Amino acid sequence: MCGIIGYIGYQEACPVLLKGLHRLEYRGYDSAGLALNDGSCNLRIYKCKGRVSELENFLQGKDISGTIGIAHTRWATHGVPDNVNAHPHESQSGNIVLVHNGIIENYALLKEVLSSNGYVFKSSTDSEVLVNLIEYVKNTNGCSLLEATRQALRQVVGAYAIAVMEKNDPDHIIAARQSSPLAIGIGKGEYFLCSDAASIIEHTRDFVYIDDGEMAVISRNEDLKVLKLDNSEGKINVRKLELSISQLEKGGYPHFMLKEINEQPRTITDCIRGRIDVGNMNVTLSGFTFNKEKFLNAERIIFVACGTSWHASLIGEHLIEDLCRIPVEVEYASEFRYRNPVIRKNDIVIAVSQSGETADTLAAIEIAKKSGAFVYGICNVVGSSIARATDSGTYIHVGPEIGVASTKAFTGQVTVMAMLALAIGQAKGTISGEDFHRIVRELHNMPETIAETLKSSERIADLAKIFTYARNFIYLGRGYNYPTALEGALKLKEISYIHAEGYPAAEMKHGPIALIDTEMPVVAIATPDHTYDKTASNIEEVKTRGGRILAIVSKDDRHIRRIADYCIDVPVISECLMPLVVSIPLQLLAYHIAVYKGMDVDRPRNLAKSVTVE
Ligand code: F6R
Repeated sequence: MCGIIGYIGYQEACPVLLKGLHRLEYRGYDSAGLALNDGSCNLRIYKCKGRVSELENFLQGKDISGTIGIAHTRWATHGVPDNVNAHPHESQSGNIVLVHNGIIENYALLKEVLSSNGYVFKSSTDSEVLVNLIEYVKNTNGCSLLEATRQALRQVVGAYAIAVMEKNDPDHIIAARQSSPLAIGIGKGEYFLCSDAASIIEHTRDFVYIDDGEMAVISRNEDLKVLKLDNSEGKINVRKLELSISQLEKGGYPHFMLKEINEQPRTITDCIRGRIDVGNMNVTLSGFTFNKEKFLNAERIIFVACGTSWHASLIGEHLIEDLCRIPVEVEYASEFRYRNPVIRKNDIVIAVSQSGETADTLAAIEIAKKSGAFVYGICNVVGSSIARATDSGTYIHVGPEIGVASTKAFTGQVTVMAMLALAIGQAKGTISGEDFHRIVRELHNMPETIAETLKSSERIADLAKIFTYARNFIYLGRGYNYPTALEGALKLKEISYIHAEGYPAAEMKHGPIALIDTEMPVVAIATPDHTYDKTASNIEEVKTRGGRILAIVSKDDRHIRRIADYCIDVPVISECLMPLVVSIPLQLLAYHIAVYKGMDVDRPRNLAKSVTVE
């Protein structure tokens, strides 16, 4: 994961880099560092364990002058998070300095070769191997930094976004990308490079996204050059980033996660805008319209995704099978990519990813493309690698999600899947007019329904106090709400570090019921649907064994209210849209428990927002 940033221009680089690093912290936050050159070949590296704010403290009183620099915030892969393993890394002579996001898979072999040529390594990182490889190539061939970097990268197997500078050259930064994101921001008389364009939007809205196998030569007062690793010229395509600074700030909330939970009425409005026309009873997704025949002829749809996006895909499976009668499979991208999946020409692969940068999902897309399948993306980040790698797709348009635990992206993904299922179902004639009209109206009203659901936040905060000291949780749901239960459990584990498992309610008696005792809270999703009575029986089974039940029920529920210890009421709409409603109290429950436990809700330990390594 990790975030990289670089600057060359007329401003002091350090404040630009630090502000950008703060914005990139969602990508990793176990150590941070920067390298600055003051123009008289005075290259200084400052780095330390901990967050960017700790780097800022460390910089107090230091010489931080210079109008060129590169910086890094780390999510450790090779080597523990400490001062030595923090980036930037310098080459043995101290002449070359590098920041790196990714993994060099053949680093051990390269390290051996370098060691036998006299190189000694200070850190345990793969990145230090790369900077020394660049130096070794440069010294051996007597070539420029650009040429040495190009030749070194041709020997590298793995993923990288890198930025490299030389001590005696304060006018150039070389950057390169393979499977890790890299954008170059173009200002007036200045350039920026970064893992995520949003990190520097105060400075420019004009970006060139570097593609896999490309290098960028960023020079003071000269045009940007893009080269491929085979030395041919790459295309420079400048794109405008549409984003406001307020979208990147907390807006008065104590945490991004709470802001993002509360934003959901607006983000769903943005997601359905121009797509749901309740007057003409139409659902229009351009990605579907332009590829209608493919969807109509699809023999199977395969979702590939990770984590929360995988949970949303499980809901997509129900929606598409129910409304379109097309068989659906849902695959963990990380498993799909390493088995030998049967993919046929008439299969459609739908890749689902908030960040659009998840390494496993990107690799799954490549496999699907090689097999000749049509690949459709459901992404949030515009211009991201997955958005670019897919044949077509739909953006969820929920705005930047900064809290590490995904909330509004999940409901955006499910909303897009519901619209896609409606559009396919209508075109195929597999959904009745009555059902179509009802679901379209409910989607149109979804922002108000979610706003109504959010009103239970205070009650949930009170309930959260009761459960703060629980050590385990079970989440139960059936049908559409089984994936919702999985997602609720994931939210709790991620930010409160309480062990939690989601199960299909009826599966309990096949094993997990052995875990039930008076210490075990069970969150049961028991809204009215076609398995309500069965779920009620499953809850009775838990109650009989002493489990403490917190049930998510409809306002009018009488039956489960009598069995459960605590209830949270939610509005009731069609079964296929209930995950959108039910996920709200589950997000709030996880949030409030984590806050009571004093956890760092937006930056939970060991996690990063964008998983660009496998
Ligand atoms: C959980 C969470 C992760 C991501 C997963 C995939 O809250 O955010 O499980 O869902 O890492 O990320 P994307 O959707 O960016 O591909």
